Amino acid sequence: MHVDIFTDMTKQKITIAIDGFSSTGKSTIAKALAKELNYIYVDTGAMYRAVTLYAMQNNYISSDSFNPTQLINDLDKVKLSFTFNETLGFAEMYLNNTNVEKEIRTIEVSKLVSKVAAISEVRKKLVSEQQEMGKEKGIVMDGRDIGTVVFPDAELKLFMTASADKRAKRRYKELIDRGDNVNYEEILHNVQERDRIDSTREDSPLIKAEDAIEFDNSDMGLKEQFERVMTLVKDRL
Ligand code: DC
Repeated sequence: MHVDIFTDMTKQKITIAIDGFSSTGKSTIAKALAKELNYIYVDTGAMYRAVTLYAMQNNYISSDSFNPTQLINDLDKVKLSFTFNETLGFAEMYLNNTNVEKEIRTIEVSKLVSKVAAISEVRKKLVSEQQEMGKEKGIVMDGRDIGTVVFPDAELKLFMTASADKRAKRRYKELIDRGDNVNYEEILHNVQERDRIDSTREDSPLIKAEDAIEFDNSDMGLKEQFERVMTLVKDRL
């Protein structure tokens, strides 16, 4: 077991921020790191997705309409929480005490989430909840603004990239494997469109923090990525 190597080192907890484009494998590497280090893992994309689901359920957003004011007025009613699922090995997203882990991963939510994530009031609420979750350190958080806005002082910052084609193929496989009826072109278009909106929005656009280490994992397997990242973690500890 690997933990014994870190017994002394893990007494000192650090913050690990993982940012990057959609479907670059951020959550896979983040979950593996959290497991190895016995850290908390937080998927901040799930939080933006849950707020989007809330807006959809209340008819504040659809493919042809969006009423940000109604959503902003309702933000106090949006309660987000994570509950660890022992079987799955990660924390699932709850919206107002209902498990929404499956609903937030649909293509419908993916198509609308970037619009919701561009609203400053939504970002303010979620960033403050994320900072609260990470105040004791010992956390791996992935998203778009973790190294730039949420934890600018994180000891380790990673910025993940991969070609749009590789990312769309990964996402397509994930959705097909879970039984969703999607086509590849639709996924590729969604990945490119989210990249565009996420990188060009005014509030906290997706950019690489100056001190983040860039990882292009288009052709890198999980084992190699994990080993490289663990070397960086050991340096920081
Ligand atoms: O990581 P993901 O694809 O599940 O994220 C969904 C969307 O949420 C993504 O298109 C941009 C937004 N997001 C964000 O703006 N800031 C974050 N920290 C995490 C996600």
